[in-house]
Amino acid sequence: MKKILVTGGTGYIGSHTVVELQEAGYEPIIIDDLSNSYIEVVDNIQSITGKRPAFEKTDLKDREATMEVFSRHNEIEAIIHFAALKAVGESVEKPIEYYKNNINSLIHLLEAMKLYNIDHFVFSSSCTVYGEPDELPVNEEAPVKKASSPYGNTKQISEEIIQDYIIPNSGKNFISLRYFNPIGAHPSAKIGELPTGIPNNLVPFITQTAIGIRDQLKVFGNDYNTPDGTAIRDYINVVDLARAHVVAIDRLLSGKNRSAFEVFNLGTGSGNSVLEIINTFEKATGKKINYTITGRREGDVEKVYADTSYANEELGWRAEKGLEETLLSAWKWEQKYRSEHT
Ligand code: NAD
Ligand code: WQD
Repeated sequence: MKKILVTGGTGYIGSHTVVELQEAGYEPIIIDDLSNSYIEVVDNIQSITGKRPAFEKTDLKDREATMEVFSRHNEIEAIIHFAALKAVGESVEKPIEYYKNNINSLIHLLEAMKLYNIDHFVFSSSCTVYGEPDELPVNEEAPVKKASSPYGNTKQISEEIIQDYIIPNSGKNFISLRYFNPIGAHPSAKIGELPTGIPNNLVPFITQTAIGIRDQLKVFGNDYNTPDGTAIRDYINVVDLARAHVVAIDRLLSGKNRSAFEVFNLGTGSGNSVLEIINTFEKATGKKINYTITGRREGDVEKVYADTSYANEELGWRAEKGLEETLLSAWKWEQKYRSEHT
């Protein structure tokens, strides 16, 4: 079985990807420092797939500790790099922490690739690199806009570092996947998104409101230039997103990539407003959401959704799950998790 090192593999997207990798016959090895996830996720992955992934509790900022993990696992074929700090607002408060974590982790992995002869790498990028796009849907050729937060900047800088790295390192191949808004949970409800504290993201805030942890959802602005006035995003099911990572790994390992640095948008190709998400959640689950309209959130873009035609054609991948099914999976996860943790 081919070994794939998955950093951030106990996190939200990482854990779903570990499941998909195992189901596709790969052997994932997780590195995570558990700064934003829990060791129990490893058990939960095992209970879905019947296979226990290797787990290394390591902080990627620690170069020596990171190299030590590579020295113990030989024949790693590829790295999927999820590990990062990801809270946009927090990154404005703590920019150095974000640069230190997200940039140093990447650099240590690039060094490890060289030292341990690993040729393939999949990077977690974000639609945040497009800012407020000039044209919609936004394709991979769209210009990268000045980042509106240190978090977003770490994604832009990381893509630049990778492009500089491949120049003197021929034979190393990278795919950068730009995620739009991942939501939902595994259909088993055994893994899902676990925000710490008050959720920043819409769907966890909705599910926590529905279950009674939060009193009221604030809808940030209804004066946008959109049909119902609320902002539009491309919400993609996390399992669909996870599957794309397996496709990206297959592509790299079989040498089907067209260049040493490829970029793909991962979204559904259509946008939904905040009110559409609330209404669809209510319809799918039968739960009413207590919400109020407030002012816009600073830094939010009005509308962004993906042109996925390049990913559809080149990767032979497309998002398959509908919004109702996806929101229902988020709700099932919230209910199951809370029933087991209160
Ligand atoms: P997450 O926080 O659930 O997972 C990240 C994992 O990385 C966590 O388990 C955390 O403990 C770990 N980690 C962080 N710093 C580490 C370090 N120094 N060493 C070892 N482990 C470390 O986040 P997620 O939502 O699964 O996001 C995964 C990746 O996708 C991130 O790179 C994120 O920036 C990117 N991304 C996420 C979204 C989103 O909306 N969730 C959108 C676009 C891009
Ligand atoms: C979605 C919509 C909010 C919460 C963020 C990052 C982005 C990427 C994905 C990592 C927006 C509205 C939200 C709430 C609301 N992450 N909203 N009330 O901001 O599109 O993207 O996550 O790379 O970089 O910026 O996602 O889920 O926070 O918001 O009305 O309580 O929901 O204004 O229109 P966002 P989100």
